[in-house]
Amino acid sequence: MPAPSIGIVGASGMVGGELLSLLEKRRFPVGRLLPFNSGRREAFITFRGKKYRCSAPTLAALKECGLVFFVSTDEVSARFGKKLAAAGTWCIDDSSHFRLDPAVPLVIPEVNAAELDGRSRLIAGPNCTITGAAVSLARVHRRFRIKELRLATYQAVSGAGKSAMEQLRAELVHWLKKGRVPDLPGRKLPHPIAFNVFPQVGGFDAAGNSSEENKVSAELKKIWRSPGLRVSCTAVRVPVLRGHSLAIWARTEKTWTLPALGREIAAAEGVEFRPGRTDYPTPLAEGDRTFKVYAGRLRRSETHAREFQLWAVSDNLYKGAAWNSVQIAEKLLAAGKLGG
Ligand SMILES: NC(=O)c1ccc[n+]([C@@H]2O[C@H](COP(=O)([O-])OP(=O)(O)OC[C@H]3O[C@@H](n4cnc5c(N)ncnc54)[C@H](OP(=O)(O)O)[C@@H]3O)[C@@H](O)[C@H]2O)c1
Repeated sequence: MPAPSIGIVGASGMVGGELLSLLEKRRFPVGRLLPFNSGRREAFITFRGKKYRCSAPTLAALKECGLVFFVSTDEVSARFGKKLAAAGTWCIDDSSHFRLDPAVPLVIPEVNAAELDGRSRLIAGPNCTITGAAVSLARVHRRFRIKELRLATYQAVSGAGKSAMEQLRAELVHWLKKGRVPDLPGRKLPHPIAFNVFPQVGGFDAAGNSSEENKVSAELKKIWRSPGLRVSCTAVRVPVLRGHSLAIWARTEKTWTLPALGREIAAAEGVEFRPGRTDYPTPLAEGDRTFKVYAGRLRRSETHAREFQLWAVSDNLYKGAAWNSVQIAEKLLAAGKLGG
């Protein structure tokens, strides 16, 4: 079968850059590469030693591809996703636009690869925050039925894209030069982030939940096919460049022992479990260009007999986005679904 033509919408962004390097690293077969950006500024990318100029996407140009990765904005995915999939192009979408659409599978290959059954050529990847819990606890949920999940997130600035990374860098440079954190004009995040944390990721709804907190709850229920699961989340932005961390409290229906929980977490696909007291993962060590979810600090909660606590770290740009999408593409390729 000829190598497929691949489109990347958002090739000049954070996730787009990681996708390009992963396609290279994994020697993914690429016939033609078509990189797109907003067209509002000049952008070039390099792939396999060749320099490409990005252009604004059009439906006609996207239809030339066998597979398109959408890593730009919700609006762009909404504009092209369904039309393109209906025309026969496989679409892997990292935006949040289609994630809760019942006709679109929301896929983390380690958890629900069976959803890649071909009924939809449009496939959504999940929110980068939920990956750590969805993957590390998938087997625990299957065996002991998690009924309630409480999460506090510690989210890297790269989760908000290139401009948020630039905001943190610019604030740190200013602090080094002038000794104070500036309030930069036009900053991407709702507050200065250097030496700061704030409990806001996205906008707030009428109930006071942030959009990130709502995504975490709704997407986990869909991925685990568990509409009755109850999820409470406080999503927090922290001055980390890369790697999201989660403090998790999970309450189960069935009883367990800590060793049994540890065995399930360690056996979960795509997870590295750290059972020791002090070998817990951190975003600096385990959240930068890593393929797995790292989990540690498993222990009993004092608040309920069937509640335990866990710490999880994953790379929001790899496992939370680009790597997850490449894993999906590799599965489609292996199933012979990607033509030229
Ligand atoms: N960052 C993460 O950790 C993460 C994790 C999971 C999912 N995602 C999702 O992945 C997507 C990309 O995120 P990111 O962090 O890579 O953002 P980013 O660094 O801000 O990059 C955005 C990309 O989209 C392009 N773009 C913007 N408007 C466009 C338009 N109208 N038409 C075509 N391209 C357009 C930008 O092109 P220009 O060069 O013209 O600006 C840039 O290439 C988002 O949907 C985000 O929700 C991100």
